[in-house]
Amino acid sequence: MFLRQFAIGLLAAFTMSSVVFADETDVSIVPPAEGSVSIENGLDAFSRIYEVASHPRCSNCHVGADNRPMWSGPSYGRTRAHGMNINAGDSRIGAETIQCSTCHAYREGLNDTPHAAPQVAMNWQLAPVEAEWFGKSSDEICNQLRDPDRNGGRTMLELAEHLNHDLILHWAWNPGGGREPAPYSLQEHIDDLLIWGVAGFPCAND
Ligand code: HEC
Ligand code: HEC
Repeated sequence: MFLRQFAIGLLAAFTMSSVVFADETDVSIVPPAEGSVSIENGLDAFSRIYEVASHPRCSNCHVGADNRPMWSGPSYGRTRAHGMNINAGDSRIGAETIQCSTCHAYREGLNDTPHAAPQVAMNWQLAPVEAEWFGKSSDEICNQLRDPDRNGGRTMLELAEHLNHDLILHWAWNPGGGREPAPYSLQEHIDDLLIWGVAGFPCAND
């Protein structure tokens, strides 16, 4: 049931997004047959998922309760909180001070100017506090992602939610402007989520 919901959630989210991205590379969502993935292969898949989740293109937005986006990764030189004293506030969109969209609103064109604000989606904002990944270990993120109590109570649909902000995801794998792309590809990341799911969402500390 758990797995079925997860797969259907992925499919539903994908069907919605594929309308918007008809001209983008096709992403297919084909879970491996139930029972066909060993725990070991599931753990291998999760270690790749972790490489993605902890990568700056993802974790810079997946920060904690201090509501400060991060500037990290090779293009930034050193790791630090977002300059200009940006704080997303409890709203996570900067409504309390200056909205993220002031600088990050979607604009047609490539984000190929180094150190310009990425302009890839209207809803550029921090991920929810429960989805805090920045600086967390593989085990921490693993337990967080599979735990309905900490992923918004949406069972494994929560995992599929990342497809709801696929503009941002497409950018993360093709950021331009000298930024390092997230590892693997969106397709490989989805495949890994499905492999991990069919293996029963194992974590190394089980
Ligand atoms: C611009 C900021 C931003 C970036 C960059 C970003 N995310 Fe997110 N992420 C969000 C927001 C906002 C949500 C909440 C979306 C929602 O609930 O509809 C979210 C939610 C998620 C979720 C749902 C899981 C949970 O625990 O809430 C996943 C999975 C996810 N993102 C994956 C990724 C991956 C993988 C990357 C990098 C390839 C990434 N995100 C990069 C903002 C971001
Ligand atoms: C005054 C303009 C401005 C505002 C407002 C702003 N940003 Fe930024 N942001 C930037 C610039 C410029 C960069 C790129 C800096 C660089 O590459 O050296 C950036 C980069 C980022 C990055 C890093 C992206 C990456 O992976 O390279 C994140 C995350 C981010 N901003 C989140 C936010 C959030 C969330 C908000 C709202 C709370 C916000 N920003 C508000 C200008 C702004």
